[in-house]
Parts: sequence; structure tokens; C-alpha cells
Amino acid sequence: MSKPKFYLTTPLYYVNAEPHIGHSYTNVAADTLARYRRMKGYDVYFLTGTDEHGQKIEQASKQEGFEDVKLFCDKIVEKFIDLWKLLNISYDDFIRTTESRHEETVKKILSLLYEKDEIYLDDYQGWYCTPCETFWTPGQVEDNKCPDCGRPLEYISEKNYFLRVSKYQDWLLDYLRNHPDFILPKTRYNEIYSFIKGNKLNDLCISRPKERLSWGIPTPFSSDHVTYVWFDALLNYITAPGFLREEERFKKLWPADVHFIGKDILRYHAIYWPIMVHMLGLEPPRMVFAHGWWLVEKEGGAADKMSKSKGNIVDPRVIVEKYSADALRFFMLREVPFGLDGTFSEQNFIHRINSDLANDFGNLVYRTLNMIAKYYERRIPDSSRGRESGDAVFKEVISGLEERIENAMSVLNFQQAIVEIWELIRRANKYIEEKAPWNLFKENKSQLDFVIYNLAEVLRIVLIALAPFIPDSTSKAWSYLGFKDDIHLHNYSEISQWGIISPGQIVDKGQPLFPRIQI
Ligand code: MSP
Repeated sequence: MSKPKFYLTTPLYYVNAEPHIGHSYTNVAADTLARYRRMKGYDVYFLTGTDEHGQKIEQASKQEGFEDVKLFCDKIVEKFIDLWKLLNISYDDFIRTTESRHEETVKKILSLLYEKDEIYLDDYQGWYCTPCETFWTPGQVEDNKCPDCGRPLEYISEKNYFLRVSKYQDWLLDYLRNHPDFILPKTRYNEIYSFIKGNKLNDLCISRPKERLSWGIPTPFSSDHVTYVWFDALLNYITAPGFLREEERFKKLWPADVHFIGKDILRYHAIYWPIMVHMLGLEPPRMVFAHGWWLVEKEGGAADKMSKSKGNIVDPRVIVEKYSADALRFFMLREVPFGLDGTFSEQNFIHRINSDLANDFGNLVYRTLNMIAKYYERRIPDSSRGRESGDAVFKEVISGLEERIENAMSVLNFQQAIVEIWELIRRANKYIEEKAPWNLFKENKSQLDFVIYNLAEVLRIVLIALAPFIPDSTSKAWSYLGFKDDIHLHNYSEISQWGIISPGQIVDKGQPLFPRIQI
């Protein structure tokens, strides 16, 4: 039987600046889900990439002294690719909006929608925010400032092409009513639902005159215009899997199962995007999840937005170099519920890593391996009672664990999934204290075999359960535990099985995975 598919995406990052922890957040979360779904037996297609057209990129390229905008994009895109490598992001496809597979399909889509009369030419008068690449009507604007980011707007008056979005307002409202899980978290769903219910949607301006912006995809119906960057970028979610190009593959992959986005770009994904795919006769994506923002602490403890001008950008590369990719991955997913804002501070970071990874997880790994080395010359002991039934205390925590994790992961509640796994880790550490193997070593050898077998087996389960979250350290610990294969190729259901680890398997004490960080 062929595997069920799972298609997930991240936003396409603008290449006007280097990536920071905000960008890393989305890709770490998406990667964790991708790894988890692979281990659950899905055929995963994980797409990420870069958004390379528009005024903002053109300006950034000029400022950096590049004549050719594409060369500027080529330079910045490398920084994203390097960062994803550093963070172990296991994407299956990376799309750049300047690739011909994307540009050619966007042109075909424009022609198709133009022929269907979903696109028309009209006068445009209104405001434009270049940092957000967003058009605003006069009614939406106060004091010439962008309603989203508060920065000054540019007034424009020109002929442009429009997409008949307003025609589909009732369809969208109906769709939302019938699909209450289309937008998560619930607060974001409510926000969009009441917006659509209470406001009249305007048609979306989808072009820019070439004389003002040349860095974009030319529209097939007018040599004087290029495509609006958002219209171009959203389409990546169908151009990459092969729409109008590799129909078989596309049919298998679409609709996307999850679009991961930040809360600031929700309207594009929850209003315009489903209408665009509907116009093309396609099903809307299954879920759009809008996560919160990472802010940084400023003096006095208040939270502040990260920005280049304030010089308070947290560079993920520095964090990874100083600590590790897994430490950053774990912190971001454990510290803040996915969907809410979080404040990044190095103190909180250190505290979380020390308490959860160095103490709880690290200790379990270290003590278990160390005892096998010390009491059994590195060979996992045999205990038929251990293999067959295991200790009842673990049965309790392990039974239903896989289901509890699935319930959390299916709504992208990474924090809850981790909390579930921690129940087992804490129970195992407590077990070591209760059973005091150092006394059993002197007094009761067969009970020691039983206890240590249990611990080795629990460690196997913990490592599989944590593999999607901290892929590098679980791989290392897997080999320390004496396995020769790749932990990431295992099936997640193995956390529900007992008695798998082989007596006699030779372990290695290895290196401490998360040394305690001194403040
Ligand atoms: N290019 C558009 C997206 C097009 S998707 C078809 C864009 N790019 S962006 O580079 O500005 O932002 C990409 C993502 O990074 C957004 O989801 C945004 O929410 C996220 N973040 C940017 N700064 C962030 C934080 N400080 N914290 C968390 N995520 C934030 O928008």
C-alpha cells in the first residue's frame, strides 16, 4: 500500500535582509512536523524557499550596490540555505520565485484568470507600503501611515490590474463556517471570520507599472506591467508541486495539509489565497497556522520588536555556535505555545536548556549508559521479566503516549507534545532514585538486570519520541545506546512497543549531549 501524503509549507522569505530567529522559528516548527509525519509513515513533501521580486528587494539590491538584482538575490539566498543546514531543516524542495518553473507557471495562471475574466484593468489610486508590499485604500489609512507596520506610505495613482476577489466574499464566509479548523489557533480564525463578515472585500490590485518597478514577473496581457509580489509569491504553493506542469504529481500533493505562517501575513493566506485557488478550480489548503512573534527584551524587562535599525536582531547562527542547533530548536518549541508571542532572552534560554536538556534528558541518557558500562561492561543486560512485561510504573506513562502526542501534533501544539514526553523522562529519573541500582548491584543482581533493562528500553522510547524535535542529539544518543541504524528511519509507533532493545547490545558512554551552561 502506498503511504499517505503530507504536504507542508513555510512562507517564502524576502531576501532583502539576512535571516533572524523569527524566520528560524517557522522553519524549525515546520521541520519538526515534517520529521514527525515521516516517522508516522507519511510520504512528506516539505517546501520552503525565498520571495525574490518586488520593490523592497529591488531597493535593497540598489543599496548594496548591485546592478543586477538577481545577483543580489543569489547572494542572500545562500544565507538562508546555510542557516537551514545549520538548523537541520530537512526540506524536500526549495523554491525561489525567480526560477523559471515558478515564473512560467505564474504567467500561465495569469493568462488563465484573465481569460476567465477574473482579472480586469482599472485606475488605482491609493497608498502603498513598501516594507509590507501592501496596497491600502484611502479609507483604511490614517496619517499616511501603514495600518500594519506604522511606517510612512507612498501615494500612487496609476492604471493597474485587479483580481475579482470581492465576488467570492460569500463563498469564503461559507467556507470558513464549514471549516472551523481551516485557520488555527482559534483566535486567528475568529479574527478573520469577523473581518470577512463585517467588511466589504475590495478587489486585489495585482500589478505594478513597469516604469516604476521592473523587478517582477511580466504580465502576459500587458507589456507595461509586472505582477504584484504577493500574487506571485502565494502561487509558489502550487507552482512547486507542479501545477500546470506535472499534473500527476500535483494531483497527489494538493491540497497542502498545513501552511505555516506568522500572524502578520494571515490575511494574505486566509483571505486572498483560498480565493485564488478557488478561482483556479482547486480545493483550498487544509490548514493555515499563524504562529506568534519572537520579541526581544529591552532594558527594564519590556518586550520589543526586533529590527535592524534598533540593532537588536538575535542572530540564530550565533546562538547555534554558542550552544547548539538542538538547544535552539528545543527552546523555541518548548518555551512558548505555538501561536502566542514569545520574548527571547539568553537568560531564559540558558535556564530552559539547563533544566530540561542538561538535567532531565541529559541525566537520563548519561546515568543509563553509565550504569550499563559500569555494571555490565557496556552490554545491555537480559531480563525476561523486563522484556516481557516491563515495570508497571512505565506501562502507565507509556500507554496512550503515542496518541497523546498525536493529538497535540495534529493541532501543532509542540509544547504539549514535549510535555507528554517529559512525563516519561521525569518518571524514569525518579525510577533511578527509587530503585537505587547502586545498592542492587551489591544486593540483588536479577532485580538490577530488570531495572537496567527497563531503563534502556525507556531510553529507546524517549529517543524515538524526541527525534523530530532534537534530531542531532537523538541521533548521537541512539548510536551511544548501541544502535547502528538511523533513528530517523524508525517508525514512531515503536514508542508504543515494549521489549525491542536486544540484550547484549553494546553501548558507549559517549559525550555529554547538553553540558550544563554556566551563567
Ligand atoms: N515574503 C513574505 C511571505 C510570502 S509567503 C508566500 C514575507 N516574508 S518575510 O521574510 O517578511 O517574513 C517571513 C515570515 O517570517 C513571516 O511568517 C513572518 O511572520 C516571520 N517573521 C518575521 N519576523 C518574525 C519574528 N520576529 N518572530 C516570528 N516570526 C516572524 O512576509
